[in-house]
Amino acid sequence: MTELNFVVEPGGALRGRLRVPGDKSISHRAIMLGALADGATTISGFLEGEDCLATLRAFRAMGVRIEGPESGQVTVHGVGLHGLHPPTEVLDMGNSGTSMRLMAGILAGQTFDTTLMGDASLMRRPMGRVTAPLAQMGAQIDSAVQGTAPLRIHGGQRLIGIDYPLPVASAQVKSCLLLAGLYAQGVTRITEPAPTRDHTERMLEAFSYPLQRDNERTVALAGGGRLLGAEIDVPADLSSAAFFLVGASIAPGSDLVLEHVGLNLTRSGVIDILRLMGADIEVLEPRLAGTEPVADLRVRYAPLRGLRIPAAFAPLAIDELPALFVAAACAEGETVFAGAEELRVKESDRIQAMADGLTALGITAQPLPDGIIIQGGDLAGGLIDSHGDHRIAMSFSVAALRAAGPIRVCDCANVNTSFPDFVSLSRSVGLAITELSK
Ligand code: S3P
Repeated sequence: MTELNFVVEPGGALRGRLRVPGDKSISHRAIMLGALADGATTISGFLEGEDCLATLRAFRAMGVRIEGPESGQVTVHGVGLHGLHPPTEVLDMGNSGTSMRLMAGILAGQTFDTTLMGDASLMRRPMGRVTAPLAQMGAQIDSAVQGTAPLRIHGGQRLIGIDYPLPVASAQVKSCLLLAGLYAQGVTRITEPAPTRDHTERMLEAFSYPLQRDNERTVALAGGGRLLGAEIDVPADLSSAAFFLVGASIAPGSDLVLEHVGLNLTRSGVIDILRLMGADIEVLEPRLAGTEPVADLRVRYAPLRGLRIPAAFAPLAIDELPALFVAAACAEGETVFAGAEELRVKESDRIQAMADGLTALGITAQPLPDGIIIQGGDLAGGLIDSHGDHRIAMSFSVAALRAAGPIRVCDCANVNTSFPDFVSLSRSVGLAITELSK
């Protein structure tokens, strides 16, 4: 396979207006619930990235008719909770942890067997966190000895609702169990140790499924209901917007508006953290897109200062932390991130990948088991290994705005998993980035 690299020339500023692609988490869920609903679901703003396409293809392979995507428009002709057909092949989830973990919950409730696999990165990621509670519900799933994929899911099991305190703050695990709960007898109740993204809960409501949210941390549903097709407007992905929030904050002369960005409070830690560091971010015209809050964001350059980020912020900014580490490298003084041990089991070990990359650019970065300590300083140019991780690749791309020399980022093909137009959109607002295939 040809390797895709990015070369980013140093300096410049980010200016203008931009709508980044649709939210990845919401796009996955729209396809899943649309497929399992009675009636048609229309989706606008769907993320046409590889991760969400893996979810879409899996449902097509199980007999669901899906039109599109075309310019973000998708129509899913739902087959109802019990209308999926056995796929003739193994279901390949590519690089997508969300697809694999959420699908495991849905597939545990089917009458037929399925097998889930993925790329090398996904086949290393922990799946015991979903297979163990699913087994408690009565599912039968075989995994590799280390608790990793491939997952062989045996159909025809009778699922029973459980009361489950999540051992890790993970929206994927919570969502997996809620989806399995649709097929379970009785009530499935999940309590989280800290709030995580609640897109599944909001989307279940959009599909008219009764849900009980007892307090901030507990959610419950009873199996045996039905989902009704819905109209879903997917906001722009705050996790993709984060690269530009950081880029514009660190590059003098920047003034950028990001349009229709999802601002769900369980996701918006990146804005709070950047503001604590001194960033100038304005929230314009807050409104609702269906059941999700959105707004336009105006971000202008501002000098950042280092600080100790409270661990409680970590789950609210988990996917944006690599970009925030770049902000910390450009801030004055020391920044300490804690409570983020989950970063070690993402598409790559993001703590190590970021520490190595920042060090390669001349920044003092000390990895911790659950975070990192970064001394703000002057960034040099250099060569970065993204480890095939989309968010590492994009974080170091925007770092070039403050670097003294070009930054070359290797192994960037997976940027397509979450942000297909990253290079052209970034160029349109001033990042001097080019793609090189070799
Ligand atoms: C996601 C949940 C988070 C996040 C991932 C998307 C989701 O993962 O990092 O990118 O859509 O539910 P965890 O549940 O592993 O924290």
